[in-house]
Amino acid sequence: MTTAEAETKLKEYLSLSQENTKDKSTDIKPVKTLRIPEYEKKRDTYTEAGFSAIQRGELALLLLAGGMGTRLGFDGPKGTFPIEEDKSIFECLFDNLRRDIGDVEIPFFVMTSDKNDEATRAFFKKKNYFGYDPELIYFFRQDMAPACDFDGHLLFEEKDVPATSPNGNGGFFTSLIKAGYGEVLKERGVKWLNVFGVDNVLARIADPAFLGSVITEHKSAAVKAVLKKDPSENVGVVCEKDGHPSIVEYFELDEKQASERDENGELLYCAGVTVNYLFDTSILLKTVEQKMPVHKVKKKIPYIDSDGNHIKPAEPNGYKFEILITDILQFFPDFLPVEVVREKEFAPVKNLHGADSVDTARALLHARRDADGD
Ligand code: UTP
Repeated sequence: MTTAEAETKLKEYLSLSQENTKDKSTDIKPVKTLRIPEYEKKRDTYTEAGFSAIQRGELALLLLAGGMGTRLGFDGPKGTFPIEEDKSIFECLFDNLRRDIGDVEIPFFVMTSDKNDEATRAFFKKKNYFGYDPELIYFFRQDMAPACDFDGHLLFEEKDVPATSPNGNGGFFTSLIKAGYGEVLKERGVKWLNVFGVDNVLARIADPAFLGSVITEHKSAAVKAVLKKDPSENVGVVCEKDGHPSIVEYFELDEKQASERDENGELLYCAGVTVNYLFDTSILLKTVEQKMPVHKVKKKIPYIDSDGNHIKPAEPNGYKFEILITDILQFFPDFLPVEVVREKEFAPVKNLHGADSVDTARALLHARRDADGD
């Protein structure tokens, strides 16, 4: 990104993030989640509907792999991290795909960023595309965002090279269209896009029952959700905000709302989102024209000072800008949160140790293997 391009983008992002912090209504309502017992009752119907749609070529996959994985601190794209001795996270995801649909092949889009595109492509090639048909794998780069100091001045990582970072996971569809892949969707008659994160090693992708549920229930978007453990758990939950599907962050709910329960004693705001969504592509196409909100986040941003010294700040020194996938939901007329069994489908790899870490994910993978009897 040139300095002039960065200046223009920074101006745009600063004004969009301003919009984002303006007074907003907080008319938040709970949304009904498709709970496990109900889902299980209809599983066969859902599975059949989902499989038929897959066989008609109506599903495509989109892997969000453009993040920096800062918390993991691994030197390389997060998907290349060896989660098992001989297995990368990417390989794990392809294994999961085959567990659900065998060898049915589905277009597989991979979103990277300027920071990890080459390394990601090289890894896929080295690993022989994990046995998948390379013709069905489409890489594209997401947009980058400039960073600025607290006064709104660009930061530079080298002389005349603005400091940039991937602009969040919410611009996935705009970047896909920019890369020219709208044609692939059209030619193949893709009606549903399954968008998922790189770091949940238990993610079930192209899950026929999940796809069948959104089709059968006549919804335009869906997400796999895990039940919130307690009112204070730090997780965004599904809701309706100002009449639109939305995700409310735990800190946006007041204590009363967060602990409100229904007649069965269940939390009203119970569905914690995982990064595993289904979107109707005809509606995604309309979102390309919409302006997505931009979030301004305080971060530690390495930069070069006026004397040419490279500085690695110990404290946040400026803002990065992000567009979030959760903000795309407001453009959908309806939305289906589908509860999944946490231990079976949710093993996020955010940190090396502690909560949501390599350690917890490995333990969950081992538990799955034991349950499979391998
Ligand atoms: P996270 O929000 O966990 O971010 O991304 P991250 O970059 O992986 O990790 P940290 O916060 O730096 O430690 C959730 C999903 O969204 C993707 C990630 O690759 C992950 O699959 N993502 C995130 C993008 O594709 N692009 C982005 O700009 C940000």
